[in-house]
Amino acid sequence: MCGIVGFYGDNTEVVDTLIAGLKRLEYRGYDSAGVAVVSPSGDLDIIKATGKVAELENKVNTQGVKSLNTGIAHTRWATHGEPSEVNAHPHISYDGKIAVVHNGIIENYKSIKVKLESEGVVFQSRTDTEVIAHLIAKFFTTDLKEAVLEAVSHLEGAFAFAVIHKDYPERIIATKKGSPLVLGVGSALESPDGVSRNEIIIASDVSAIINKTKNVIYLEDEELVDIENGDFHIHDFKNNKVFKPIQTVDWNDEQATKEGWEHFLIKEIMEQPQSIIESIRGRVDIENGNVVFGGLIDVKDRMASINKVILLGIGTSFYSCKLGEMFFEDIVGITAKAEMSPEFKYKSNCIDENTWVIALSQSGETADTISSIQEAKQKGALVTGIVNSVGSTIARITDAGVYNHIGPEISVASTKAFASQALILLMHAVYLARLRNMSLADGQEFLTEIKELPKLIKTALENNGRIKEIASRYYQSTSIFYLGRKFNYPIALEGALKLKEISYKTHAEGLSGGELKHGFIAQIDETKPTIALLPSDSLYSKMASNVEEVIARKGKVIAVLTDPESDLINMVNDYIVVPKTSEYLQPIVNNVVLQLFAYHCSVLNGLDVDKPRNLAKSVTVE
Ligand code: M6R
Repeated sequence: MCGIVGFYGDNTEVVDTLIAGLKRLEYRGYDSAGVAVVSPSGDLDIIKATGKVAELENKVNTQGVKSLNTGIAHTRWATHGEPSEVNAHPHISYDGKIAVVHNGIIENYKSIKVKLESEGVVFQSRTDTEVIAHLIAKFFTTDLKEAVLEAVSHLEGAFAFAVIHKDYPERIIATKKGSPLVLGVGSALESPDGVSRNEIIIASDVSAIINKTKNVIYLEDEELVDIENGDFHIHDFKNNKVFKPIQTVDWNDEQATKEGWEHFLIKEIMEQPQSIIESIRGRVDIENGNVVFGGLIDVKDRMASINKVILLGIGTSFYSCKLGEMFFEDIVGITAKAEMSPEFKYKSNCIDENTWVIALSQSGETADTISSIQEAKQKGALVTGIVNSVGSTIARITDAGVYNHIGPEISVASTKAFASQALILLMHAVYLARLRNMSLADGQEFLTEIKELPKLIKTALENNGRIKEIASRYYQSTSIFYLGRKFNYPIALEGALKLKEISYKTHAEGLSGGELKHGFIAQIDETKPTIALLPSDSLYSKMASNVEEVIARKGKVIAVLTDPESDLINMVNDYIVVPKTSEYLQPIVNNVVLQLFAYHCSVLNGLDVDKPRNLAKSVTVE
């Protein structure tokens, strides 16, 4: 994820507005940043810096960068090419006249690059974005908009980008397909010639706009805005004019970063369909039945000798590891073991150079996971990471790795990271299996199902109102049990952790349905409800028996089911139906119900949802 901003306005405001906008978008990416303006002398000035936006601001201030009326800017989260000034945006066309900032991924950039290179274009960066700048230059004759429209017809993938041209200093063109873009219409500018002009700002989200204006237009996919001289026109990709009303957003700064949601937690739960799309973007090659992990290319040769997989993590990341353990054993047929990182480093571990250790961490800064990685590396294991925070310690100290690409997770309780981690682990298992004996057809089937996951999660999230209503009956319970089996056992553990964390008035315990009779059943009574995960899978009848055991002891049951006709519906106290998918993906779908339940219990209890007591987002001490 990256953030883009573009501004037309008074020359004294351009650079400051762009930097202020980038700071508000920094949550979308912060490994490098850059700005492009047409200077008063008519040059295209580009300033870039690695690191945070503050580094760029220092450079811009030191150099005294000035603009005529327009500029574009970018804060980056590296996907193609490492974080560096060369790879930072804006990118420039081969004739030095066009600058582009882009958010998204151009999936066919390699083939476009090869073609442009054969025509003599020399590329400066390793990014996918650079092809956009060169394509626009190639198609430019007299009109920038037409060149952009021609360029987008060659692009596959997701994008929102903004363009300026050295010879048209009053103009910005911005367009989108699959990535967000908002336009803001700001105050009227002084008009010596009597023509009315406004400040116009575009950005990846409204938080970068609302300190300038609350009048916005959300662009839809395949729309383009042509900003010229303080006026703007929207067109579709066929160059038809599109008329869109200006909306007023009534948000303050904090609400804007929450995009209107009451808490970050519910925003992050609800954005899972999109964050899953970001996690799989460019990584699913259905035609060849392969998972594409650019981050593992350098260690691919070592995969041949791997005979054991260790999955390292703690908290929510550990529960993803528990799923990963089953994915590897089931799909690859290789010994796999989930290890809690605070325990791993203090015990004997049979690992060697044929062991693949996969460390999971949303923050990439968890002290216990870091020291366990060091221990595993010392024993010669191949250590890779699945990390969300780009450039974090774990991303740096592992031999290779895969980013989640889900954007920052701000609420202390981890939600969207879990879905992404579990899915990426499943993809790791398919990746390794395809290097071994998994057939093309099986690979294709896995990947086709994976592509469907965002839709299924979206449908499961539509239960929000119902879950809130159910939570209102249980939020005062002193204890809640979570029951699941096989792939849903880690979900029972994760669901209980979520409730413990954010609704700490209620104790919660996750267990395997099979464990119940071995002690826990003594706790069951009418005051302690049980949430049972009952997808229609190979263990459905076993789980159904466990639920009957609870009901027989007067325990109340909330069932999460995939079969709306299930007999259990008449026996349990409450139920939620979610869409059915493969046994591997079902736990990820089921989990969103438990996230919503914990969220509503926390709100109903009047607790601080995003910052629960005693907890920190990143645990950097042992
Ligand atoms: O950043 P990490 O994924 O390494 O964090 C690990 C745990 O601290 C974390 O998952 C914690 O359990 C969360 N608060 C769970 O919601």
